[in-house]
Amino acid sequence: MALPASLEGRLRVPVVAAPMFLVSGPELVIGACRAGVLGTFPALNQRTTAGFADWLTQIEDAVGDRPYGVNLIVHRTNTRLTADLEVIVRHRVPVVITSLGAASEVVAAVHSYGGVVFHDVTTQHHARKAAEAGVDGLILVTAGAGGHAGSLSPFALMAEVRPWFEGTILLGGALSSGADVLAARAMGADLAYLGTRFVATRESMASDAYREQIVAAGAGDVVYTPSVSTIPANFLRRSLELAGIDPDAAPGPVDLAHVTQPSEGDAKAWRDIWSAGQGVAGITDVPPVAELVDRLEAEYAAARDRLCP
Ligand SMILES: Cc1cc2nc3c(=O)[nH]c(=O)nc-3n(C[C@H](O)[C@H](O)[C@H](O)COP(=O)(O)O)c2cc1C
Repeated sequence: MALPASLEGRLRVPVVAAPMFLVSGPELVIGACRAGVLGTFPALNQRTTAGFADWLTQIEDAVGDRPYGVNLIVHRTNTRLTADLEVIVRHRVPVVITSLGAASEVVAAVHSYGGVVFHDVTTQHHARKAAEAGVDGLILVTAGAGGHAGSLSPFALMAEVRPWFEGTILLGGALSSGADVLAARAMGADLAYLGTRFVATRESMASDAYREQIVAAGAGDVVYTPSVSTIPANFLRRSLELAGIDPDAAPGPVDLAHVTQPSEGDAKAWRDIWSAGQGVAGITDVPPVAELVDRLEAEYAAARDRLCP
């Protein structure tokens, strides 16, 4: 088990506020980093590379030398990839979270200034490919996660990857409390990767109605469907119904462009149809991010004391 040197001793509780399309912006990243966890956001949350660079400047000015991260979609159809990567190198972004492709050129570019790359995977096959590309960490995105979740149990994917991967392991999928974070650590993760829990904070860019639906929802209100972006993702059933989408419709052909180069239509879909993981079951309020991190730290310590008095 290993944390990169740049994160060692830098987080109050081993938590990443995961990057979320249209949900994570500077306010959430700054709030998370100042509170002592790793705040992150997708580069594509800004419509242009120049806007992305402006957000980085805003975040750096506010967080000082605290680590933060950016999510980069690595795929030939992402026409911003080269320009966004140049901005990442120029700003020396401490942590780069890659999705879809794990490319050794991207890893080399980030390593050139001392940054680290974590790559998200849902299968052992993709974990092996990412390790070959030289990534520093693997994010195991498992069943019940918000966004484009995997379908494997966290126990199963961890059992396959932990024995051979010597880098950092992050675990994502329906984790909402400090006790969940400790459970992830007990299973072999170095860091817990929480998305949906951070949607329901005051600083997220989610609408009030979206946050309220997360608070009201139970795990059974979350539907895993390819209906919105052609690859399966978890959404709140009520928001699918309101948009007139049948979650049980037969899947059409996969078109990754919905993810790598989201059009106005895709953005509208994700604005109106709300993604959330099964972790909604443990979310009952919309606190400021600092209060949430205080709580995660207290719950983490209490769970540890309960198990190891
Ligand atoms: C609304 C929403 C949008 C997301 N957008 C992205 C994204 O743009 N890039 C990405 O790598 N992951 C994205 N994810 C996935 C998260 O980064 C993370 O893997 C997931 O939220 C973890 O599971 P949890 O929500 O159950 O905590 C998104 C998740 C949600 C809920």
